[in-house]
Amino acid sequence: MGAGRFTQGIEIKMETQIQISRMGLEGQGVGYDSEGNIYFVPGSVVGDLVKVRARTDSKKYRDAELIEVLEPAQTRVKPICPYFQNCGGCDWLHWDYAAQLKAKEEMVRHILERGTLNPSTWLPIQGAEETVHYRNRVQIRRQGPVTGFFRKKTHELVDVTQCKVAANQINEEITKIRQEPLPETGQVTKIELLVDAEGKVHRFENVPHSFSGFQQIHAGQNELLRKKVASRVRELKARKVLELYCGDGNLTYSYLDAVDKVYAIDASQSAIASARSKRSSESNNHVWFFADQVNGSLLRRLPPEMKDYDTLILDPPRQGTLGCLSRFIHKQLKNIIYVSCAPVTFTQDVQCLKEDFVLLSIEPIDMFPQTRHVELIATWVRRSS
Ligand SMILES: C[S@@+](CC[C@H](N)C(=O)[O-])C[C@H]1O[C@@H](n2cnc3c(N)ncnc32)[C@H](O)[C@@H]1O
Repeated sequence: MGAGRFTQGIEIKMETQIQISRMGLEGQGVGYDSEGNIYFVPGSVVGDLVKVRARTDSKKYRDAELIEVLEPAQTRVKPICPYFQNCGGCDWLHWDYAAQLKAKEEMVRHILERGTLNPSTWLPIQGAEETVHYRNRVQIRRQGPVTGFFRKKTHELVDVTQCKVAANQINEEITKIRQEPLPETGQVTKIELLVDAEGKVHRFENVPHSFSGFQQIHAGQNELLRKKVASRVRELKARKVLELYCGDGNLTYSYLDAVDKVYAIDASQSAIASARSKRSSESNNHVWFFADQVNGSLLRRLPPEMKDYDTLILDPPRQGTLGCLSRFIHKQLKNIIYVSCAPVTFTQDVQCLKEDFVLLSIEPIDMFPQTRHVELIATWVRRSS
């Protein structure tokens, strides 16, 4: 064991050996020393024996720096990207994909168990076929001669010529951008690149994210998500649906033919315009899209005919519903399908459902290979009285 020092009478072992036993929410390895202190070690994976240096003096929780991998986990792989650990985009390019999936499944279980959520069924995680070159949407920055992504947890730019998880069309566009005249010194240009369903690249410069709109970033996994949501809707025999955070109707159109009526809401005017533009055929005249904020007072603003829905479907952004989910629960509501890209906020949000609803199933979906992020579908039904 390495050198120690004393803080408020507690000896902090500055360097020590840790066996990594699980992954933390930020994608770092987690392990314990012989006194039960917990260490968070970025760059390590489950199964590694590592030498670390504690960066914080807290008695129980220690952020640590990886000094050396003493015995690598068998699941470690050689990262395929030269910018890995430098660029902030990917967390796990040094880890076998099957091990990533297992870790995500365990992360979801860990988070839900901490929130005392016990589904009747844990469905296995749905891994992706395309684990590289899948991202159809990225944000890059240009400043002076540098074009690339932010370094982890900083606003410092890492110069990147190609991205291993971005779609090929995006990489071609990055090459073009790098050949363009340099921006004026000091000025930072934010460039959002988006590949649409036809494979065409769109470029948005210095516009708010809401302008370019939301799009699920993995086309293959999005198709899977749509199918899963549609089959839940069928199994639950949903008739009248209120869908919150519907975006451009990505999920809505997957289950529309199975129900009698859908009222779908999203804050983005452009997403709603796009959702409405898809409502072309006669068979789609039982869906209505509205541009509005989902918040505690939304229900009061809705017309009466929209208020007796039997099924609530929601797919909020990372921050969840910010505590307003309970406002959408009424006596006739039978089913809830909650799609979440942030299990922590999901767990906080759904505490209000526990008394009256049963959590039927949780199904994680890997929408973001090579990163720590994970999507899930949660299905709730009203408890029988
Ligand atoms: C995770 S996306 C889901 C979109 C859609 N379900 C899909 O699959 O493409 C979240 C959506 O929530 C919308 N949104 C964010 N905050 C909102 C709010 N307070 N009220 C309503 N919509 C909001 C965004 O515009 C975005 O379309």
